[in-house]
Amino acid sequence: MSDNAILNIEGKEYNLPIHKGTEGELALNISKLRDESQYITLDLGYKNTGATTSKITFLDGEEGILRHRGYSIEDLAENCTFLEVAYLLIKGNLPNVEELSTFQNTISRHTLVHEDVKLMLNAYPTGAHPMGKLMAVMALMSSFYPDSLNPHSQEDDFAVTMNRLLAKMPTICAMIHKHSVGHPMVYPTNNLNYVENYLKMTFGHITEEYECDPVISDAMNKLLILHADHEQNCSASTVRMVGSSHANLYASISAGIAALWGPLHGGANQQVLEMLQEIKDSGITPQQHLDKVKNKEAGVRLMGFGHRVYKNFDPRAKIIKGACDNVLKKLGVNDPLLDIAMKLEEIALKDEYFVSRKLYPNVDFYSGIIYKALGFPTQMFTVLFALGRLPGWIAQWKEMRENNEPIGRPRQLYLGEPLRPFIKMSDRK
Ligand code: CMC
Repeated sequence: MSDNAILNIEGKEYNLPIHKGTEGELALNISKLRDESQYITLDLGYKNTGATTSKITFLDGEEGILRHRGYSIEDLAENCTFLEVAYLLIKGNLPNVEELSTFQNTISRHTLVHEDVKLMLNAYPTGAHPMGKLMAVMALMSSFYPDSLNPHSQEDDFAVTMNRLLAKMPTICAMIHKHSVGHPMVYPTNNLNYVENYLKMTFGHITEEYECDPVISDAMNKLLILHADHEQNCSASTVRMVGSSHANLYASISAGIAALWGPLHGGANQQVLEMLQEIKDSGITPQQHLDKVKNKEAGVRLMGFGHRVYKNFDPRAKIIKGACDNVLKKLGVNDPLLDIAMKLEEIALKDEYFVSRKLYPNVDFYSGIIYKALGFPTQMFTVLFALGRLPGWIAQWKEMRENNEPIGRPRQLYLGEPLRPFIKMSDRK
């Protein structure tokens, strides 16, 4: 294969270097095109734009493949703890016994958050969305650790920030939940594992002992792993973009949380459950709901379906669906929303509208049903996505800085008014 592609514009040829990824993916390098030809490339929503090169996650949307650092998501979800996967994403390899133990011990020493975070949470109205609080608390973290603001900090400083982030995120998420329900926070218990500690801080009470149900902690561990990274999605790209201006890691991740909140991205998990509940409460059939979707009634999509990259199936959704059956059975929960979800899926997968557009269930379609069975309020679902996605955001930010990537600054095609004469206020109609 040639090393270059030739682009012919009005008879003039431009050489575009071809890059090949380790899994055979191909890319045209257009970075010098504007300097040489004055043309930019136009690609709304970056549907065909590789914004970076990366060694973290490989995703093949046609084949439904997802791998982190070369390991399949199926193997990781089946065999690992969430902290092992976090280590893998951030450091590049699976930890051995000693490395994992050191990592866990280090993380467990940073689990407390500054008491003044409570003051900030108390300033929020009751009922405020937890994602708004999470964004704010994450940004606030930078003020407690001014060392993290130095853009030229060394590797050791980054490691401390990373450890603090991973350690404090479960505490922060649990505090936000407790604030929403008006209960006092439950402090971390450092001899519990990552997931059990989080569950205790969320569902435990300061007035009584908490015993973690292994069915719940296993399901939670799997869900966190399945959300841990997904290459250049909207929030990860945001984290990289913000970090590319040398903004600190806390600020970059706060911006990533904002991106995740949107209903087309992580916010979809909340929307799926609300959609299922609405179908149930209004008494319409799944088919009637799908008719509304197909008629493109304003704002009606089949939430939890479709993906920018997966055009065959989302491997995470497959694992979650299996876990969902399992968890509901083990917990003895009989949720009518699951029946509605399964019916929607069954009809949609045979329907021309969804088939022709290659729309399949994504990670968010069944996750909410498990979160609900585990006892989480609907508004917390996207916070759980953020808790899982944190190691991915950290790994993406770290890679971007280690590669010394330039500031992210896309171009545009201006379609506004050309220069026009200024009109004085007195002459304006
Ligand atoms: N329900 C109905 N129609 C849909 C859906 C859906 N969920 N998703 C896409 N379409 C249609 C869309 O209307 C368009 O149709 P047409 O060609 O007639 O205009 C076509 O499919 C292509 O859609 P698109 O919006 O151009 O596709 P995209 O790649 O830009 O969007 C998506 C991907 C995930 C934003 C979209 O599929 C969607 O809105 N899904 C529902 C929200 C959702 O579940 N988001 C979670 C994504 S997975 C978790 C994560 O990583 O964020």
